[in-house]
Amino acid sequence: MSAAFSQRDLRDAFGLFATGVTVVTAVRPGGTPVGVTANSFTSVSLEPPLFLWCLAASSSAAPAFAHGAPFAVHILAHHQLDLALNFARRTHEKFEIERHWRNKPHPPHLEDALCRFDSRVHAVHAGGDHLIVVGEVLAIAAAHGTPLAFHAGRFGNFSADRGIPKVDIWEGLEDHWY
Ligand SMILES: Cc1cc2nc3c(=O)[nH]c(=O)nc-3n(C[C@H](O)[C@H](O)[C@H](O)COP(=O)(O)O)c2cc1C
Repeated sequence: MSAAFSQRDLRDAFGLFATGVTVVTAVRPGGTPVGVTANSFTSVSLEPPLFLWCLAASSSAAPAFAHGAPFAVHILAHHQLDLALNFARRTHEKFEIERHWRNKPHPPHLEDALCRFDSRVHAVHAGGDHLIVVGEVLAIAAAHGTPLAFHAGRFGNFSADRGIPKVDIWEGLEDHWY
């Protein structure tokens, strides 16, 4: 079936959804550490504690995400653009993941992230040319700071609009808006 839009149009349209930026780390069978920049991270469930992210099925990191395998998701702080760019390179061009790998044989921990989720693979679903990796949160290491944001192919800042009250999406929203 031919679509009424090109792949470029679709990419650009998806990119209009502003997100944070994560680096996901894991260890491939055989012991090679992997790290991938990903903005497809989203929360799924509180009980059990689940999230998902999507990984290109063609990625050399894919074998690291078998059922039950441990991995770590790092929500990047604004000052971590260099990590975002490094882990968006092709595998053979990434550098220095070994430098971060002080916690061998576990998935590498990157320092100074806004939050790290130590996780294990709960399920992997096929999603077209990507794998939908559902992760179970085992531990959280959270810090205060400014997130790295991504929108329309550009990295930047999130700054709260002070005129709008803070929203707790787990509580009723009605109190805030009506
Ligand atoms: C801001 C940003 C977000 C990205 N998000 C994803 C993503 O969610 N899933 C994905 O598979 N690749 C994503 N990528 C691309 C991967 O980071 C990149 O293709 C990968 O690191 C290549 O390494 P590999 O050869 O080991 O797969 C993103 C890149 C950038 C710059």
